[in-house]
Amino acid sequence: MNQKNSFGLDNCFKDLENPIDLFGEWFNEAKKTEINDPNAFALATVGKSGEPSVRMVLLKDYKKKGFIFYTNLNSKKSDDIKFCPTASICFHWKSLLRQIRITGTITKVSDKDADAYYNSRSYGSKIGAWASKQSSILKNKDELIKVIENYKKKYSEKDNVPRPDFWSGWNLNPHEIEFWLNGKDRIHQRLLYSRAGANEWQRYLLNP
Ligand SMILES: Cc1cc2nc3c(=O)[nH]c(=O)nc-3n(C[C@H](O)[C@H](O)[C@H](O)COP(=O)(O)O)c2cc1C
Repeated sequence: MNQKNSFGLDNCFKDLENPIDLFGEWFNEAKKTEINDPNAFALATVGKSGEPSVRMVLLKDYKKKGFIFYTNLNSKKSDDIKFCPTASICFHWKSLLRQIRITGTITKVSDKDADAYYNSRSYGSKIGAWASKQSSILKNKDELIKVIENYKKKYSEKDNVPRPDFWSGWNLNPHEIEFWLNGKDRIHQRLLYSRAGANEWQRYLLNP
């Protein structure tokens, strides 16, 4: 029989005070079981029109202060975030039958962190970051290929491609994190952590 935690939930929910620690436990399991991209999550934002918009991005770091992803700062998602600096994100790991939902406020990562991550990327990805006016309309693919070739000429030294100032990371500082495990007959298990202070979290069970 599966062991239970102090809430009577499956033992995978542990009994941790900080949800970032629990996130780390689940994420490490997902890295072993997902066939690809265990770090992929859906990012929902709301922009000026009031319409929500959702897309997948990749988690590149996480710590007590938040969940970090990188993108073009002039993209649709970044415009939304500049207008409304909150977001809701969702991980779904099919191999584990688990979901994690996180909501919070978003700030830009430091230039130092963005440079460190950008410099770890491949030459092609760095050039791609320069070439793509992400989310704006492209006449045809050749137009983009030409821009890529031009940037390859401009930055021909492979180890010396600066980070564009329009490309950086966003950090989601969570105020709620909900852990979900699939259950028999749709009696799923849900544990919500809600921020109660800088380093304090309250835990609640939710109806499935
Ligand atoms: C699995 C997966 C991971 C992705 N990761 C990123 C990412 O980390 N950063 C990014 O800018 N776009 C990423 N994309 C592309 C986005 O989903 C999206 O197409 C793009 O960022 C433009 O979104 P926007 O127009 O809403 O700004 C990813 C797509 C998929 C399917």
